Amino acid sequence: MTTLGTPLSPSATRVMLLGSGELGKEVLIALQRLGVETIAVDRYENAPGQQVAHHARTITMSDPDQLKALIEAEKPQLVVPEIEAIATPMLQQLEDAGVVRVIPTARAARLTMDREGIRRLAAETLGVPTSPYKFCDSLAELQAAIDGGIGYPCIVKPVMSSSGKGQSKIDGPADVQKAWDYAMAGGRVSHGRVIVEGFIDFDYEITLLTVRAKDASGQVQTQFCAPIGHVQVSGDYVESWQPHPMAPAALAKAQQIAQAVTADLGGQGLFGVELFVKGEEVWFSEVSPRPHDTGMVTMATQWQNEFELHARAILGLPVDTSLKSPGASAVIYGGVDAAGIAFDGVAEALQVPGTDLRLFGKPESFAKRRMGVALAHASDVQTARANAKEAASRVKPRKA
Ligand SMILES: Nc1ncnc2c1ncn2[C@@H]1O[C@H](COP(=O)(O)OP(=O)(O)OP(=O)(O)O)[C@@H](O)[C@H]1O
Ligand SMILES: [Mg+2]
Repeated sequence: MTTLGTPLSPSATRVMLLGSGELGKEVLIALQRLGVETIAVDRYENAPGQQVAHHARTITMSDPDQLKALIEAEKPQLVVPEIEAIATPMLQQLEDAGVVRVIPTARAARLTMDREGIRRLAAETLGVPTSPYKFCDSLAELQAAIDGGIGYPCIVKPVMSSSGKGQSKIDGPADVQKAWDYAMAGGRVSHGRVIVEGFIDFDYEITLLTVRAKDASGQVQTQFCAPIGHVQVSGDYVESWQPHPMAPAALAKAQQIAQAVTADLGGQGLFGVELFVKGEEVWFSEVSPRPHDTGMVTMATQWQNEFELHARAILGLPVDTSLKSPGASAVIYGGVDAAGIAFDGVAEALQVPGTDLRLFGKPESFAKRRMGVALAHASDVQTARANAKEAASRVKPRKA
């Protein structure tokens, strides 16, 4: 039996989000609806999730001492990482000591914190198909890896980065130095390690949202959402839709890979498994042990969106991954560098049939910062994509 308490009382079920951006905000809202007491943590004040949680805390989450002090002071039953840049060895220590349960597990948070742990696990331990790859610590090693078998074209990424930061494609020898320099400038921490991957000439890429949740007998079962198609521009998602049609053999392979990777990471919760597909061939790219940005489309397409699925799974509640309607999402970028911006055209955007908006409430805008998303449902994906893009384009962020 799962028991939930009353927030702000001694019986409260307390959950701490580490990272409170637009994805964390929706997880917090889903938890709030179940009467969970929420603590939203971020590195800056008034982060989107902090605006809807019971408690807001601002710390440097990559600092183990600050993280430990906060968890010991707040005593949440669950700690839910929303971002990668967290002092995960400290989470492991606290989990091992029985102080807290980390979602899905402290080990999963540690292995997916950078590209190396998860890539080696998938390719070398689990034998899942991936692009050919090598990790390199210098320009000379990068060149040697390319000459030694990775070949051209290939992609270079800092080991610690997300949203395509520091990532570039190398088409020939003339691009190698530039790609190395770009990776050095774009990584999250400057210890200068990169992954170089052979370029996969895929037909399309998907996110397969995979949920590990308890069934009626208390056993953890794996369930899949319908595949989500998406378009990435410079490594950052700009548009997604659901369902993405797949050949039955490709879907079966995708589900097998997602099952294998998420079963090894373990625990309970929702995972975003990124896969490349060409014909009936499927490659594993990476996995987020948490809701995925391309999965925001599920707010328009599923009976239980990815955030509700995550909230339910981590609390030990049953989930329903079924589709309600085809739909799409389109990102709204800030367009300007300014604090406290204004959004014109909101009513015009919502005049597009079947659409909805999320404006995240981020205190500061950058030209390429994701500030909102347009959602659309329709009788087919094509219409939904056109409508989501139209709605997104009608929202005009500007300096206030
Ligand atoms: N080996 C590859 N072959 C072809 N395309 C690739 C390869 N690796 C990455 N890409 C393209 O670049 C995109 C971003 O790559 P990846 O997911 O590794 O970066 P990321 O920085 O983690 O991005 P995000 O945080 O948005 O998921 C992929 O979705 C895909 O479109
Ligand atoms: Mg990715």
